[in-house]
Amino acid sequence: MTISGRILKISITSCLWLLLCCSLSHGTETDLACLRSVQHSLIDPHGYLNSSWNFGNKSEGAICTFLGVECWHPDENRVLNLRLSDMGLKGKFPLGLNMCTSITGVDLSSNSLSGSIPDNISHIIGFVTTLDLSSNSFSGEIPVDLANCTYLNTLKLDHNQLSGQIPPQLGFLNRLKTFSVANNLLSGPIPKLNENATVTAADFANNPGLCGAPLPSCPGTSKGPRTGVIAGAAIAGVTVAALGVGIGMLFYYRKVSKTRKKTDDDPDGNKWAKSLKGMKGIKASYHNILILKSREYSLWGIGN
Ligand SMILES: *[C@@H]1O[C@H](CO)[C@@H](O)[C@H](O)[C@H]1NC(C)=O
Ligand SMILES: *[C@@H]1O[C@H](CO)[C@@H](O)[C@H](O)[C@H]1NC(C)=O
Ligand SMILES: *[C@@H]1O[C@H](CO)[C@@H](O)[C@H](O)[C@H]1NC(C)=O
Ligand SMILES: *[C@@H]1O[C@H](CO)[C@@H](O)[C@H](O)[C@H]1NC(C)=O
Ligand SMILES: *[C@@H]1O[C@H](CO)[C@@H](O)[C@H](O)[C@H]1NC(C)=O
Repeated sequence: MTISGRILKISITSCLWLLLCCSLSHGTETDLACLRSVQHSLIDPHGYLNSSWNFGNKSEGAICTFLGVECWHPDENRVLNLRLSDMGLKGKFPLGLNMCTSITGVDLSSNSLSGSIPDNISHIIGFVTTLDLSSNSFSGEIPVDLANCTYLNTLKLDHNQLSGQIPPQLGFLNRLKTFSVANNLLSGPIPKLNENATVTAADFANNPGLCGAPLPSCPGTSKGPRTGVIAGAAIAGVTVAALGVGIGMLFYYRKVSKTRKKTDDDPDGNKWAKSLKGMKGIKASYHNILILKSREYSLWGIGN
């Protein structure tokens, strides 16, 4: 290698080092700006952040001593997790989190945060494995863009005022294990999550209109063509039978009333009403038996 070649190599190497250093320091500087922005955007009535988050100390790792801040390394201003649970915080979702470029966990649970979950959430905290926004006052719809936070293991949105449907795209989150949306205003079908997600009915409880596994199936959706046909046939059969009996009784009572004296009109009417009532009861219980039977058949049908 010639001397000029060596010089070139050395200068390229040092340039690369310089670039690396710059990007690193830039990275940690953005984390500083991130926390500054987070503090600025939150209302902190108890002064938790105010008293602990002191931006006066410029040394590397200073932010790692902040309340709720966990760094990748204690000597480096690079946020790994932010845990600000139960601090009485108010305001909107802190959009400045997008400057915490290496953040993997965000816990803002049990505060009084409001407004919607940003619809560009994957551009803000796209690499999080844990997002806990539970027990706040978030409203609006669950953003479809959450499906682009592909590293999510834990997504807790329970105890908020979220409405609309759960985006079916959340089924694409193939690392998702824990998911909870209980106690919201959600409706519509529960999407099928990946096979490793361990969800129970409790994770969806107390929403006005959620349906489908693990909750009871959605109204109007038959489990198979058989169920539909059997239930339909059963209802039709009962209706026809009831009509037949009704018409028969109508003729019978007409005949009877014709033979009766005119002064008996009133008691006759009562009888007619009573017999109708009785029929309704018979029809209802018979109907239920048939529905139960058809369910039984559909259970057998699933195995096929
Ligand atoms: C918060 O900080 C401001 C000024 O930075 C100060 O005046 C105020 O007393 C602090 N409040 C609390 C609760 O620490
Ligand atoms: C600034 O932060 C560093 C790193 O956490 C710490 O060692 C140092 O004591 C702090 N200085 C002051 C004045 O708080
Ligand atoms: C996300 O959307 C909000 C509101 O529309 C916007 O202010 C913010 O800059 C966006 N953030 C990113 C990282 O795209
Ligand atoms: C998710 O990311 C893909 C690829 O960047 C994009 O095409 C899609 O629109 C994103 N989805 C949402 C809901 O933003
Ligand atoms: C579920 O877990 C098993 C075992 O850890 C793994 O092999 C499989 O790929 C996982 N499924 C998904 C959808 O990630």
